[in-house]
This record gives sequence, C-alpha cells and structure tokens, in this order.
Amino acid sequence: MPINRREFLLRSGLATAALAVSPPAFEAESLPQLPLCGGGALRKVAFRSQPLPSGAPLNPVTLARFVDPLPIPSVLHSAGLRPSPEDPRLKLPYYRIEMCECLAKLHRDLKPTRQWGYAGSVPGPTIEARSGQGLLVEWVNALPRKHLLPVDFNIHGAEADKPEVRTIAHVHGAKVPPQSDGYPEHWWTAGKSATFHYPNQQDAATLWYHDHAMGITRLNIYAGLLGMFIVRDEVEDALDLPRGIYDIPLMIYDRRLDQHGQLYYMTSGDPRAPWVPEFYNNTIVCNGKLYPYLEVEPRRYRFRMLNAANGRSFYLTLSNGQEFQQIGSDAGLLPQPVPLHQVELFPAERADVVIDFSGYAGEQIVLRQGSQDVMQFRVRRYGGKDAGPLPAKLRPLTRMAEAEAVKTRLLTLGERDDYAGNSTMVLLNGTHWDQPVTEKPVLDSVEIWSLLNLTADAHPIHLHLVRFQILDRRPFDIFAYNASKTLRYTGPAIPPPPHEAGWKDTVRTDPGMVTRIIVRFEGYAGRYVWHCHLLEHEDNEMMRPYDVVGNS
Ligand code: C2O
Ligand code: CU
Repeated sequence: MPINRREFLLRSGLATAALAVSPPAFEAESLPQLPLCGGGALRKVAFRSQPLPSGAPLNPVTLARFVDPLPIPSVLHSAGLRPSPEDPRLKLPYYRIEMCECLAKLHRDLKPTRQWGYAGSVPGPTIEARSGQGLLVEWVNALPRKHLLPVDFNIHGAEADKPEVRTIAHVHGAKVPPQSDGYPEHWWTAGKSATFHYPNQQDAATLWYHDHAMGITRLNIYAGLLGMFIVRDEVEDALDLPRGIYDIPLMIYDRRLDQHGQLYYMTSGDPRAPWVPEFYNNTIVCNGKLYPYLEVEPRRYRFRMLNAANGRSFYLTLSNGQEFQQIGSDAGLLPQPVPLHQVELFPAERADVVIDFSGYAGEQIVLRQGSQDVMQFRVRRYGGKDAGPLPAKLRPLTRMAEAEAVKTRLLTLGERDDYAGNSTMVLLNGTHWDQPVTEKPVLDSVEIWSLLNLTADAHPIHLHLVRFQILDRRPFDIFAYNASKTLRYTGPAIPPPPHEAGWKDTVRTDPGMVTRIIVRFEGYAGRYVWHCHLLEHEDNEMMRPYDVVGNS
C-alpha cells in the first residue's frame, strides 16, 4: 500500500479545523529585537514563540511583489589558522559559526520573523572553499533550550529524555572523514560546539550545509539552519563562466507563516504525536525574502539554485519563456551546457544555471515556481558585456560502466507494513534506523544500487560521502513484487536526460520505478548515512546508516 494521502489530508484538515479557534500564540508587537549573535558569549533567550499555529495562515498573494532587494549571503571570513586534526604541523583556515535565534524581515510589509540561523542569518553565510585546500569549522550551538517548533517525542531519536534542542552540522555533498560528516546521533546541545574538518578533496561544486540532528532535522532546517558551501577549482577557473558578482546563490524553500508573519509548522492535530508525513507550503522564500528583486546587467549571470525545502519540489521557469543553460548538477559541472525551459529540483538537489540577460535590456523577468512568482530580475539598460560565448565544453565526464560494479544491491522504498498504527512511515529496505547495518561497500569499490520505489510518491535519495551517476529508471510491477518479490519490468529502462547525466548526490526515485545509480565509494572508510531528503521522511525512519569498509 502506498502512503495514505487521503488519510493524511483528512487528518491535517481536521487539525486545521480544530486549531482554527485557537488564539494566536503571541502578539508580534511584543517580540523583542534580538541582537545578532557573534559576540562570543552564549546568549540566553528568555522569550520564545509557542509552537501553536494561529488559525488562517498568511496569504502571501496579498503582499506587494518585488519590493525587497535579493539578499546575497555574506562570505564567511576565516578567524585565523588552526592545526589540522590529522597532522598538527599543518595549519588550516579556521572558521567559527554560531547557531542562534534571530529576527529577520521576510518582506518589507511583514513583522520580523523569529528564526534559527547560522551566524544569526537565514540562510547562513556562504563558506567558500578551494578544491584540495582543507578547512576547519567550529559549529557552535548558541540556541535556546526550547524548540521554536513542535517536537514529536515519539520519533526515534527525539524521545522526551533527550534534550529538546540538539544540533549537528552536515555539509551536503562533501567528501569528509566520518567524524566530520555530521552523524545524526552525534549531536550537541546549547552551549556546546564541535569542530569539523573539511578536506575539500573534490571537484568544484555547489554544496550546502544544514542541520542533521536525529529526529528533528525537519524542524531545525525549517527554523533556518541552512547555508551554502561552494567549492571552486582550476578547471572551473579556466572556463569563461560568470564569476564574482555575477555568480549568485539562490536558496529556494517554502514556508508557511501565520498572521503575525511567524513560522508555522503543521502538526497532525494529535498533540502527543504531532509529526506529519509531508508538509508543502504556500510561501516561497528565496535567500530569506519573499518576492525579492535583483537588478542585473544585460549580460550572463550564473545562479547556483538549491531546493532547500522540507518536502516540496520546484519547477522553475522564466516569465519571458527564455531558456536556462544548466552548467552543473549536485556534485559539479556538466560536460556541456544543457538548455532547459524548466529547471526541476527535488529537495536537496542543485542546478547551476546561466541566464543570459543580454537581449533583455530594460525588461523585467520573473523567476517562477509553477504559477507562483519567486523573484524578479530587473535588467538594466547598460552594463558590462560578455567577452565571448558561453563555453560549449565544461568539465569532461566519463560515464561509469556497469561492468565496473562488483555488487548490485536491490533496496526498497516502501511503506512500513510490519506494524499496526503509523501507516505513513516509509522505510528503506524494510529496516529501521537502529537495525544492524546492512550496506557495507568496500572502500574504492563500485556498486550499483537499484532503488525500488514501492510507494505512490517520488523520494529524493541522498548518500553521504559519495557522488554517483544515474544509470536509468525503469517501471516495474509493484503488485508482483509485493506478492512474490519478483522484479517484473513493465517497460524499457529510461536513461537520465542530459542535465541528470552528470555527477549527483541526490536522486529522484519515481513511484513504481527502479532507479539505478552507480557509485564509487571513495574517500574514507567509516560510518555514514543514506536517506530520503524529504525531511519529514528522513526524521521518521527513512534513513539508514551504512559503512564504507576499509580494503587493507
Ligand atoms: Cu542534505 Cu543527509 O543530507
Ligand atoms: Cu521519502
């Protein structure tokens, strides 16, 4: 049986009706102005919003469009050099980031929204890295001790005997030693920190960092714990791509705000079990603003687009019908630019795109998600010109051969059917988080993972540590599989389209399809995780540890 959407909608509908009479949890006017963190000492926050939703959510359609400039996150500065954890004679740039509660205006006409940000901003500052040059980040938890959003204490790893606010930072797409990867159970609490080592032995790519604490990742990221981590290298430098002020990250995510402009997170209506299996929202936020605008010159720009939503997928288009040139996917540059009218991004996926504004001087172009406006580009009449055309070739890419694989694993994505009760929980290969590790690839070996999606939803599956290539997607008979565990294909294998044929770290697995990826488990031996990046799923058991086993 697939996820019972009807039951979920019914439950959430009832929940909304029941809560419609609740008074607003607080008056926005009474919000104190919080200082931005970074002063060093850990701040105590005495005031917090209640996790109760007010009745009707704010309708973003009523807000004026394109009145706030697009914020571009600041680039984080290093606070000196510190010894490398592997070799103390080697000194690496050291960065320090405090996670803290902050207030920020999401729109000119809204009251400041209480959020949790890295270095007091949402998104957090961008970390700029060079391939091959390691760095250290000390991640400091300076958050309050009570959560901003409703914690479900029934969820594995989020039980009431654990501190309510826990954090652990993870750089999504980074090839890092296991102790620096942000293993979900290795969280720390307010007043504590951990220093992680990012060797950056990987190609130029648009990575991002976000919280990964066991059982509350959906709430911590929704509260604002996310930012960009960009790796650059010589191959990319040698290409004539837009750079500097013409290279801009766009972190896009959805939120729901209450009438006071405060974050609202959906609950099931059962106060003892508030978790909901999915949460899609009406308010699209881009770099921390609703409907921002960006003044651009009539020339090419590079935008590093990230879907940082909990569960929503984005279908991005330009209002003038213009094409994007996609130049990179999750884990680096594509072999050549791919022209696309629509950029499709599932949660955690990235698309590096080039938009050429040169033919549109004086015009206004809107970036849209479906029929909703995301942001506006205002093309100036004059500005710098591009010296030449967009490079026709980017980074050479060799497609991995199936013959390289020493092992093929068949792994299911299926609704749990072994327990009564929670019918909306989805499991990886029928196993829970705390069951023994079953995926143990050997370091430097190549494997094919065949992901059988037995549910009615697409799930974006992410593996830590590695990058991979998509081999194909092929429809199969779910009923035959459920009845007798026989894999019967019902159609031909579909190879990935060009924009998905480069390096990936997150793959959309469609319902009723076998999605095959080919992976070399290179980098480090140790324990990592793989999971669905729909954060509500990830938090409720759709995540598994896996071990890369040393080969010596
Ligand atoms: Cu985006 Cu396990 O992470
Ligand atoms: Cu999922």
